[in-house]
Amino acid sequence: MSIEQLESIAQAMVAPGKGIIAIDESNNTIKKRFDAVGVENSEEHRRAYREMLLTTPGLNEHISGAILYDETIRQSTKAGVPFTKIMLDNGILPGIKVDKGPHPLAGFPGEVVTEGLDGLRERLNEYARLGARFAKWRAVIAIGEDMPSSTCIDANCHALARYAALCQEAGLVPMVEPEVLMDGDHDIDLCYDVTEATLRSLFASLYEQGVMLEGTILKASMVLSGKDCAEQADIEEVAEATIRCLKTTVPAALPGIVFLSGGQSDEMATAHLNAMNQMGPHPWPLSFSYGRAMQQAALKLWAKDMAGNFAAAQNTVAQRAKENGLAALGQWSRAA
Ligand code: 13P
Repeated sequence: MSIEQLESIAQAMVAPGKGIIAIDESNNTIKKRFDAVGVENSEEHRRAYREMLLTTPGLNEHISGAILYDETIRQSTKAGVPFTKIMLDNGILPGIKVDKGPHPLAGFPGEVVTEGLDGLRERLNEYARLGARFAKWRAVIAIGEDMPSSTCIDANCHALARYAALCQEAGLVPMVEPEVLMDGDHDIDLCYDVTEATLRSLFASLYEQGVMLEGTILKASMVLSGKDCAEQADIEEVAEATIRCLKTTVPAALPGIVFLSGGQSDEMATAHLNAMNQMGPHPWPLSFSYGRAMQQAALKLWAKDMAGNFAAAQNTVAQRAKENGLAALGQWSRAA
C-alpha cells in the first residue's frame, strides 16, 4: 500500500458532506445500550441490529465509512452476504476497532491507558484481508482532581502513535482518537487546556513514530463544559473553542478531523458540528464519526418491534446521516 492509497482512503472518509457511523461497540458496551432498551445481548441480536443499520437504504449518500467490532466484521446478513461486501459494494469503507479498551494505569489511581499493542500487527493484517480499509484506537482522558497527569496523556499518545504506525504498515488508515471525557463539573476552559495538552502530545508522538499525517484521520472530542458544570457554554462558544484548540495543535497536512459525540444529545452533536463548519473554511474538513448520536433514536425504535419497526428505524438512521452530512457542510438547520 502506497502513501497515495492511504491518502485517498483518508480523503474518501471525509469527502464533502459525508461522515462515519461508529457501530464498533464491544460486546460489553452494546450490552449497556441493549439493556437500556430491554434487548437481550445475544450474538443474533447484535448481528440483526448491525444488519438493520448497515442496510439502511441510501446510507452511502452521507456516510463514507462504518467502524465495526471484531465480531461484526466477521458477520453476514441473514441472507448470507458478508457485511464487508455489502459495505464495499455500496461505497462504504469498512473500519475496525482494534484497541483492547482502557485499563488502570499503574501508579495513577483513577487514570487509564488503552491496551492492545501485543499481537496488533497480526490482527491488522487479518482485518485488512477481511476487507477493512481503516482502523480505530480510542484513548480515554478523564478530567478530575489532579487529573489528567502528563504521564497518562503521554502513555496514551505513545500507544496511539505505535498503533498508527502499525496500521500504515498494514495498509490501513489509522483513526487516532484521544477522547477527553465530558464527565465532571469542570468548565470549558479546563477542557480546552486538557484537549490542547493531549493533542500536542499526540502529534509529537506521531512524529516520533514516523506516522504519515497525510494518511491519518484524527477523531477528536469537542471542547465542552463538563456534563455537571453549572455554567454550560453555548453552541457558538463550543464551536469557537474547539476550532481554536484544533488550529493551534493539528498540522494542516492532516486530511481531516471527525468528532465523536461522547454523550451529547443528537441535536447538540449536530448543532456543534454545523456551527464549526459555518465558521470555516478551516485547514481540514470537519465531519462526524458518531456512535450514540447516530444510533440512539433508531435503537429505541428497533428495540420496540424488531420486525415491525425495521424500516422506521432505518429511516431514522438515514435522517441522522442526512442531518450530520449537512452539518459537515455547515448547511444544517433545525428544520432540515
Ligand atoms: P460516541 O459518538 O457515542 O461517543 O461514540 C463514538 C466512538 O466511536 C467512540 O469511540
